[in-house]
Amino acid sequence: MTDHEQDNRVDLTPYQAAGGLEGLTKLVDEFYVNMDTLPEAQTIRNMHAKDLTEARKKLTYFLSGWLGGPMLFQQHYGPISIPGAHKRFPIGYEERDAWLLCMERALAAQPYSPELKDYLLAALSIPAERIRQVNAREI
Ligand code: HEM
Repeated sequence: MTDHEQDNRVDLTPYQAAGGLEGLTKLVDEFYVNMDTLPEAQTIRNMHAKDLTEARKKLTYFLSGWLGGPMLFQQHYGPISIPGAHKRFPIGYEERDAWLLCMERALAAQPYSPELKDYLLAALSIPAERIRQVNAREI
C-alpha cells in the first residue's frame, strides 16, 4: 500500500493518516522551518525562544493526541488548554494567519492526499481562531 492509498482509508484516525509520530515530526519540522524563514512569520517567530527544539517537540506531541494518537503532550507535560497556553502572546488576525500560513506550506510539502491536507488545515484553523478570540477577549 502506498502512502496515498493509506491516507484515503476511512478507518484510519487522522493521526495514522498523517503518518503517525514520524509523519507528524516531519510536518512540525517543516512548519518551524517556515516560521524561521517566511517574512510573514517574523513577528510570531520572535515570540518563540531562539532554540525551537522544545517548541517542535511540544507541538508534535500535542498534535499526536489531538489527532487521535497517543496523548504524548499530557503524558510528558501535563494538562493543556490551547487558548490558555497562548494568552501571554499578542495574537491577532495577522499572527493567526501567519501561523496558518506556516502550516499550510508545511502540509503542502507532505505526501498526504489533498483531502487530508484540506482537512488538517481546516481543523487547525479552529483552535487558531479561538486563540485570537480569547486574546481579543471576544469570548
Ligand atoms: C494562532 C497562532 C499561534 C501562534 C502565534 C502561536 C504561538 C506560540 C508561541 C509563541 C508559543 C510558545 C513557544 C515557546 O515557549 O517558545 C506556543 C506554544 C504552543 N503552541 Fe502555539 N501558536 C499558535 C497557534 C497554535 C495552535 C493552533 C496550536 C495547536 C493546535 C498550538 C500549539 C501550541 C503548543 C502545544 C504549545 C506549547 C505550549 C506549552 O508550552 O505548554 N499553537 N505557540
